[in-house]
Amino acid sequence: MRVLGIESSCDETGLALYDTEAGLLAHALHSQVAMHAEYGGVVPELASRDHIRRVLPLLKRVLAEAGVELKDIDAIAYTQGPGLAGALLVGASIASGLAQALGKPTVGIHHLEGHLLSPLLSDPKPAFPFVALLVSGGHTQLMRVDGVGRYELLGETVDDAAGEAFDKTAQLLGLGYPGGPALSRLAEQGDAYRFKLPRPMLNSHNLDFSFAGLKTAALTLVRKEGLDAAADIAAGFQAAAVDVLAAKCLTALKQTGLKRLVVAGGVGANRSLRSRLDAEAEQKRFAVFYPPLALCTDNGAMIAFAGAMRLTEAQSRDGRFTVKPRWDLSTLAAPAA
Ligand code: KG4
Ligand code: ZN
Repeated sequence: MRVLGIESSCDETGLALYDTEAGLLAHALHSQVAMHAEYGGVVPELASRDHIRRVLPLLKRVLAEAGVELKDIDAIAYTQGPGLAGALLVGASIASGLAQALGKPTVGIHHLEGHLLSPLLSDPKPAFPFVALLVSGGHTQLMRVDGVGRYELLGETVDDAAGEAFDKTAQLLGLGYPGGPALSRLAEQGDAYRFKLPRPMLNSHNLDFSFAGLKTAALTLVRKEGLDAAADIAAGFQAAAVDVLAAKCLTALKQTGLKRLVVAGGVGANRSLRSRLDAEAEQKRFAVFYPPLALCTDNGAMIAFAGAMRLTEAQSRDGRFTVKPRWDLSTLAAPAA
């Protein structure tokens, strides 16, 4: 089965073709980061318009790269949410238009499920069940993953997401938007031991996170020490964030008794986090998996892949049925949009 994936939830237009036999055939991405940078954040209306401009040229590119024609696509997966409504509508309407023209099905994908399953695009890939650390610009969650669509939330941030804290701290340090990668590069030149930043909720005895206080501590330091200390502040901030993320992952593994950890989402590209988790994995004898580096941040490949997984699961259920002897009427959802 060949699935076209379309991601347009925020500021990246991503298109990809995934083949359940041959793997990822092609993916192409346009990042709007430069366009939004002068505003210090994503401007939703500009994002939607830019998705419209990029989506068809990117579609042509992935088809050419994969040597596939439109008629050879079996299904179209698109990011249905969460994200910016106008931006999501671009991907959804293109998917729907193509599907109607080609007589093929669409499948709406939850953006975070795309991130969550993206490590399965790596080689070697993790087997189910595993613990997943989802660290993106909007989310920080620990999940137990038993299969496609079988997700149990173990803990999450009570305030800012990890990526958001990286971005806000980077902004304080004058590193622009989105500053996560730039902060991480600056941190490599700094002394992580000069300033001891707080490790919020490190000893909270649960799997929740908090990053707002860490960002405020960085702000206090910037005011006191000035930007001459930027590299050391960046290093101190990153060390604190990585400490908390790693500690909670270890607790989640212990609590679930699982031996596989998967890291997904933009902050999963962070070198310091990866090397810390690799070291812990070696020492504590568990396996850690990441998506390919290029697929940590938003992309179409993870959407095409999640779509393919959902459709193949659904096919394998064809012909099987269940009944619900006890069925609460109030749990019914409206017919799918
Ligand atoms: O998953 P993603 O592309 O978008 C969301 O779904 O939110 O994640 C983007 C986030 C941004 O906050 C960005 O600063 C952060 O991931 N990020 C990083 C790094 N690369 C991206 N944070 C720390 N270190 C990095 N190397
Ligand atoms: Zn994302």
